[in-house]
Amino acid sequence: MTDQYAVIGNPIQQSKSPLIHTAFAKATQQDLEYTKIEGHVFADDVDAFRARGGRGMNITAPFKIDAFAYATERSERAQLAGAANALKFEGDRVMAENFDGIGLVRDVTHNLRCPLKGKRVLVLGAGGATRGALLPFLAEQPAELVIANRNLKKAQELLLIGASRGNVRGCTYSDLEGQTFDVVFNATSASLKAELPPVPVSVFTGCTLAYELAYGKGLTPFLRLAQNAGVKQLADGVGMLAEQAAEAFEWWRGVRPDTQAVIDTLTVPLV
Ligand code: ATR
Repeated sequence: MTDQYAVIGNPIQQSKSPLIHTAFAKATQQDLEYTKIEGHVFADDVDAFRARGGRGMNITAPFKIDAFAYATERSERAQLAGAANALKFEGDRVMAENFDGIGLVRDVTHNLRCPLKGKRVLVLGAGGATRGALLPFLAEQPAELVIANRNLKKAQELLLIGASRGNVRGCTYSDLEGQTFDVVFNATSASLKAELPPVPVSVFTGCTLAYELAYGKGLTPFLRLAQNAGVKQLADGVGMLAEQAAEAFEWWRGVRPDTQAVIDTLTVPLV
């Protein structure tokens, strides 16, 4: 019988996960079907999918925290993020993972060939996206990881989690004045509203990579600011999307798919 997988979210129409996982399955000759589920009552929807023989799920907004709560076992990554973006079902066991951060780091270090070791790294935003990326970032041993957020308290909460694992600091946007970074990530949700986080342009002096975690928005206000400041390499989250999917696929199926073809298919030009 063909194994069943799905992505659940609301809205869900925009999700590229079925396209990605179907391409991975074809390339690795895995017999699986991957569908979209528009979630309403998360636990009921997942129960129903499992009753139909579902083996695993990806989770997107607004259900990542519900998925974490639903699980019976949680990886350290999921625990530290307090959220899950993938579930695996084995009988009564429900295992939760969070591959968003590791997918991001793999895209940056492997696909974009930008090692973070020894670098000064700035992350804008202290929401779920930054929380998920915190430990994968620190595992790369940057010289310093600075998290800037409008709401300083949220950045400081992340420091408490990261402090024992690396050199991490939290600040507001105005504190960034006069500071420079090698790599700058926009992990705020500002780009979804076509807004620009209030980041001083001086942070981009000497910066080699500006990375927008949002995907498919073209040249966002953040990327445009970085481009105008002379940053040579600009990227959006398409590679992160493909890499987190590859991590989940390997976790479910034991086979690592190549991501390049999917990245090529989904890339939206940064113009
Ligand atoms: P996600 O899960 O996508 O990270 P979230 O948890 O709601 O979403 O967090 C959104 C992040 O984007 C927050 O860090 C938020 O900043 P505040 O905590 O200060 O509100 C940030 N954000 C959203 N819009 C922004 C904007 N226009 N400028 C700067 N930061 C913004």
